[in-house]
Formats: sequence, C-alpha cells, structure tokens
Amino acid sequence: MQIKIKATKEKLPKQYVHVVFIEKGTEGLKETDGRTVLNVPAGKLERITPRTLRTLVRSVVQTAKKHKLTHVAVSLSYKDFGKCQQYGEAWFWSTVAENLILANYEYTTYKSKQSKYVLQEVSLLTDAGKSAKDGVARGMIVGSSANHCRDLANTPGGDMTPQILAECARTLLKGPKTKVTVFDEKAIAKMQMGGLLGVGKGAKDKPRFIVIEYKGGKSGAAPIVFVGKGITFDTGGLQVKPGMAMYEMHMDMSGGAAVIGAIEAIQRMGLKQNVVGLIPAAENAVGDEAMRPGDVLKMMSGLTVDVLHTDAEGRLVLADALHFARKYKPKLVVDIATLTGAALVALGTHANVIMTKKRSLEDRFRELGEESGDYTFPLPLWDEYKQYTKGVHADISNIASGDSRFGGSINGGMFLSHFTKGLPWVHIDMAPRMTSVASDKLAKGATGEPVRLLMKIAERS
Ligand code: BES
Ligand code: MN
Ligand code: ZN
Repeated sequence: MQIKIKATKEKLPKQYVHVVFIEKGTEGLKETDGRTVLNVPAGKLERITPRTLRTLVRSVVQTAKKHKLTHVAVSLSYKDFGKCQQYGEAWFWSTVAENLILANYEYTTYKSKQSKYVLQEVSLLTDAGKSAKDGVARGMIVGSSANHCRDLANTPGGDMTPQILAECARTLLKGPKTKVTVFDEKAIAKMQMGGLLGVGKGAKDKPRFIVIEYKGGKSGAAPIVFVGKGITFDTGGLQVKPGMAMYEMHMDMSGGAAVIGAIEAIQRMGLKQNVVGLIPAAENAVGDEAMRPGDVLKMMSGLTVDVLHTDAEGRLVLADALHFARKYKPKLVVDIATLTGAALVALGTHANVIMTKKRSLEDRFRELGEESGDYTFPLPLWDEYKQYTKGVHADISNIASGDSRFGGSINGGMFLSHFTKGLPWVHIDMAPRMTSVASDKLAKGATGEPVRLLMKIAERS
C-alpha cells in the first residue's frame, strides 16, 4: 500500500473515495454531490488521544477494505487533534502511517486463492510540510518492518526452523552497516551454551545462535543489545503441552522476530547507533534425545541449572544469550520473549510485561510504550522473589520447586536476572501481545509488537 501526501486543494481523480470522520452514526459509503464518501465514526476529533488515534486510523483501513475500496483520501489536520500534540507533529504523522500499514496487513502466504482486491493507496490531504513528510516516511518504515516481523512469527512451525530463521535474518538485514553471523550446533557447543544446546537437543533441526551487528554509531561506542527468544516451536518438550495449549506455539519466536524487525527499521532509518541483536533459536521438541525433567544443564556463564520443567525452555536459551551480551559492554540490554502464560494471567491481553531493577528504565519503558503504541506495564524483580529460583541439586532451577502457581512471570524474570548481574537490563515478557485481539483492529495472528517500542528505544538511548 502506498501512502501519499497531497495538498488540500489538489483535485483527485474520481476513483478516490474521501474518508469523512463523522461524530456519531454508523460507518458506510454515501453519495454526495455525485461523489462517494466513506463515513467513519470518530466522535469529536479534539477528544482523540494517542491511544484512540491508533485505533481510529486502523478503522479507516478496516472499513475501506470492507467496502473493497482501492484508493482513499483522508483530510487530516494536526491542529484538529488537540490531545495528540504532546509528542509533536512528526510523531502524529508517523503514527498515522504506521497504523495504516499495520491495519492493512494480512498473512496470505498459505491461501491458495489470493484476493484480487487490494487497498492500493491512502492519500493524506494536508498542508503540513516537512514534519508530515518525515513522519510518514518513518511510519512507513516502522510499519512495514513490523509487518515483516509478523510474517516471520506467523510462519507455521514446520516451515520455520532455527536455520530458516537465521536465513530470514540474513535476507531482511542486508546492508553495508549490518553483519549477520550464524553459529551452528557445533559452534554453540564450543561456546558452552548449555541452555541453548539442552533445549534444542530433542529436535531434528538443531539450534542456531544468530548474531546481528548494526554499526550506525561511532566505532567503539557502547551498543544497545536486543535479545529475542527464538523458539521456532514449543511443544513443551517431554512435559508436553496439553491440548490447545500447544496451538500458536509456532509464534514462540516472536521475540526474535521483533529483534529482526526492529533492526530492519533501524537500518532503513540509518540510525546513528550501534545495535546488536542476539537470537538463540531452537525447537523445543519431544524426542528420544530431548532433555528430561531433572537433567542438569551447565550454562555458558558457568551456573548449573536443574531442569525441573522442560516447558520452561525460553529462560534457558535466553540465559546463554544474555551472558553472551556481556562481551559487547552494552549501554542497555533488552530481552524480548513470549516467556510465560502467567504474564497473560497478570495483565490480560493489552500490555507487555516489563521487569527491571532500575526504576529510571522502568519509567522510560512505560513512557516509550505510550508513545510507540507497544504498551508496557511493570512487575517486580525484587530480592524477595529470588528464593524461588533456588536449585535442588544444581545452583538454580528453571521453575520454582515449591508451589509454582504463583508469580510465574516474575519467576521467569528472576531466573534471567542471575545472568544479567551488573548489566543495565530490561526484560519484556511479550506473551500477552503475541497475538492480536479483536479490539486491536489488526489481522488475526502476530501483532508485530514490540517493534515500534524497540525502535523508539534505539532512537532515544
Ligand atoms: N512459550 C511459553 C509461554 C507462552 C504461553 C507464551 C502462552 C505465549 C502464550 C513458555 O515457554 C512456557 O511454556 N511457559 C510455561 C512456564 C511454566 C512451565 C513455568 C507456562 O507459561 O506455562
Ligand atoms: Mn515452553
Ligand atoms: Zn516457550
């Protein structure tokens, strides 16, 4: 889909249907003065907030698609949106463009009949100048990179192995400033990444460790490191997931996909920043070589881990990647993972969990969550919770050995904290935002979160 900026006075050909925001009433096409307009209910524009701006923009695309329109034009004026001015005019236009692109996405790779209809163009009628142009250009990059992330996450488990994920990173991240290195099983063993090896052991397709290095900043300047969980399918391992709990577990590499999407956007924007992406990729399979409950893994950091539950695999692969991150002497480390179902129990489906020991980072991630649209909300990482990570025979265990019904999300974060001592670190449990819900006004499947948030972090850190 194209997004064009046109001057208000420009006369558009007849095929363009004008979108008219109506205060009350229902959506629909209407003839006026021999031209078709599309009514979209919006309430009073001066009441639209950054949050409702996103869903309003998405509903424009949703209704345009419902009526099979190919070209629509929307008159938009920043000054009409009084409550959307706290982040500036470029933010407004970027948000509009991002959400047009996100709303237009559908995952059609496996449909045997591709629909002939496409929404080809949205023209924004405005007299705004450079800020509109810059904002729309940024929004198109961020939106389409988030959509690439959704393509990766939506790919069925049978067609997304660790090696394929690595190849996708290579193809999406071609550029003079970006280097992608892929470590195979042998190299992973050599680095003594016992967590990644242990989790990946049971599958025919062996693990990979994907390292992405983007050098947009000064040489030697401390980078930001993004670590993304790359479980290409999570059966639960020998403690196999029951019934429908395994459905959608092909999306258990959504954190890794978000890292790839974010670095793609960073590269396309040419950010003057050094950014590293680390993706421990493995399939958590059932097999005669799979790790067993009670096995002890020796991690790259030297710590030993009791595998009390084979389904708590994400933290095992992340632990090695987080330890690996140390060699970059990073100014910030963020891990992104579909880590726990308990995060959904805690927050429902509308926010990503964040956990960090640094209050200033917690506040910043909440604010950038609001600004980006990838909303975040904190859970504690206090020492009181550390007792639940005690090992039985090993140093630590991958789930709480006592009652494991409580605080599951926090326990996941606490486990990771054993590997991030002294690092400026934020953990994002994105399980609540792995798949869209109806009120998101997005296609079914992956949301592309938190690509927009990671982009903001890279722009602002
Ligand atoms: N990938 C899952 C978490 C998940 C569940 C993500 C649902 C998205 C939707 C993770 O590997 C897992 O299985 N976690 C377990 C942890 C438990 C064994 C301590 C869980 O949440 O049940
Ligand atoms: Mn699991
Ligand atoms: Zn998992």
